[in-house]
Amino acid sequence: MTTPRPSPSGAGLTAAPVGVGTAHAKTILIGEHAVVYGAPAIALPVHGLTTRAELHVGGPWALDCDLHHGTVDDAPAAMAPVTTAWQQAVQQVSSTATGHSDPAVPPHLTGRPHLTGRLSVTSEIPMQRGLGSSAAVAAAVVDAVATASGVPLGLAERTELVQRSEMIAHGKASGIDTAAVLSNVPILFEQGAISPVAVGGRFVFVVADTGIPSSTATAVGGVRSLREAQPGLVNGLVDRLSELTRVVAGCLQQGDLDTLGAAMNEAHESLNRLGVGSDGLDRLVTAARRAGALGAKLTGGGLGGCVVALSRAEDVDEVLDGLHAAGAGGTWTTTVEGSA
Ligand code: MEV
Repeated sequence: MTTPRPSPSGAGLTAAPVGVGTAHAKTILIGEHAVVYGAPAIALPVHGLTTRAELHVGGPWALDCDLHHGTVDDAPAAMAPVTTAWQQAVQQVSSTATGHSDPAVPPHLTGRPHLTGRLSVTSEIPMQRGLGSSAAVAAAVVDAVATASGVPLGLAERTELVQRSEMIAHGKASGIDTAAVLSNVPILFEQGAISPVAVGGRFVFVVADTGIPSSTATAVGGVRSLREAQPGLVNGLVDRLSELTRVVAGCLQQGDLDTLGAAMNEAHESLNRLGVGSDGLDRLVTAARRAGALGAKLTGGGLGGCVVALSRAEDVDEVLDGLHAAGAGGTWTTTVEGSA
């Protein structure tokens, strides 16, 4: 993807005319919101929905994306997660290349001429739908900078950079979106620890979009307020969602579709009780179940955004038809299966 050439400065960096980064969407199978309070959650990659960033090296910092075409200085506030990911990735590759372990990188190493340029971002992932769009964009940007510089970044460095961008996009985020867009396999996320989930069967999931944007920060803030007002209610629901996540992990391992579907249905009701449901989400959940889905629930922050449904492989077309008939704005399938 890149054509490295020697660094003119000889400082250890190699520049490239174009650096490319890509990242996929995610869907949270179970445990969203509870994960903010330390409970485990499971996220799946959605490989069919991707984001691509290209850094064309040289010239002033400029952006080319849906929200802004122009210089970084003129970019609207909504671009801050992207510009932060870009600038901090530049600092990181500079510091990695020159052996500076101090995160406060000397200013003369930032904004090096051959790491500035025009950053273009194209994304198929609908924004504000709980599919990890902001994290995927940040991940793609970080990887574009790394490939442009010729300095590979490790997973820990990439995770840190994407998570800093996510904190700007969503305020206090658990880190599950960052982990999920950087993983090609289902993960269990618990208090910052990430482990792959063992899968002992074939599971087909359908993700469907209400078409209604929603803010994760607003949804998380709503649950926080409810917890302050009714701690017993919220803590009880968090505990139950935590148990359901462990049940789902077992179902994935054992190939148990029926119990998995039932756990998803119960999780949807718990999320409704946490106040992050909506009529649009309920409409799609009901449509998916009526069309044969074994279980369905909201996914991500809720309020609007998407649902995820579990379907038998032979029923997928019916589930998709049912969701479209109920007004789904977009649908995607993601299949999880064991490698054995
Ligand atoms: C958003 O995809 C998941 C939430 O649990 C927020 C978070 O964990 O940061 C709602």
